Amino acid sequence: MSLPFQAQEGLVQLLLTSPETGYLSILDPLTDQTPSQWIGTVSPFLKGEIPIAVDKAAPSRAFAKLVESEHRLEKYISQGQSCVDLGASPGSWTYIPAQRGAQVIAVDRSPLRDDLMRHPLVKFVQGDAFQFAPSGPVDWLLCDVIAAPERSMQLLIDWVRERRCRQFVVTIKFRGDTEYTKLDELKSEMPKLCEVFHLLHLCANKNEVSAFGIGRRSV
Ligand SMILES: C[S@@+](CC[C@H](N)C(=O)[O-])C[C@H]1O[C@@H](n2cnc3c(N)ncnc32)[C@H](O)[C@@H]1O
Repeated sequence: MSLPFQAQEGLVQLLLTSPETGYLSILDPLTDQTPSQWIGTVSPFLKGEIPIAVDKAAPSRAFAKLVESEHRLEKYISQGQSCVDLGASPGSWTYIPAQRGAQVIAVDRSPLRDDLMRHPLVKFVQGDAFQFAPSGPVDWLLCDVIAAPERSMQLLIDWVRERRCRQFVVTIKFRGDTEYTKLDELKSEMPKLCEVFHLLHLCANKNEVSAFGIGRRSV
């Protein structure tokens, strides 16, 4: 999806709150020399929302977080790629790459849904997601583990810094409403390690945010 304006273009936004009233915002390249720096504040998606279709064959609706992240990243898990899915049970995230022909190592203390346990592209590893290390780099790290935010953030930083994965989608889960400040380290570390890094509260997120992006080839 192309972004709505280039470096030397201005931006006019109109929000109608009723047929007679609304807000008009003008970002003029003649008075503001770098309007493109605001590009990240403009969503290319209508109302900033990405509706994800229902898929009743998936074990749960949790796959919507993964698919929404893919759309926002404009990168999609595809046939022949390799994924590690940490905290994978019952398997809604694993279901997406397996359905597309990608290989998945699914790690959890609990098993996946029966059909996914038998899926030829899925290898289930029972154990601690924080102790798991792949035998070589993988295309995608997927992680939806229920854990303290500090642990999930450190796991992500380690995986990307050590180049165990190229692309990643990781959920950072919160217990209360005061933990959002804990994201500061992630916000400062990840841009140094990544070509693309997003940290967002997705339409599909509950009390959590999603970190997704593409690691640098060389850090
Ligand atoms: C929200 S669920 C994951 C849902 C999954 N993404 C899906 O789409 O079906 C979180 C999972 O994390 C697992 N989990 C929590 N701590 C873990 C750990 N230390 N190691 C492995 N799995 C863990 C739980 O067993 C649970 O299945």
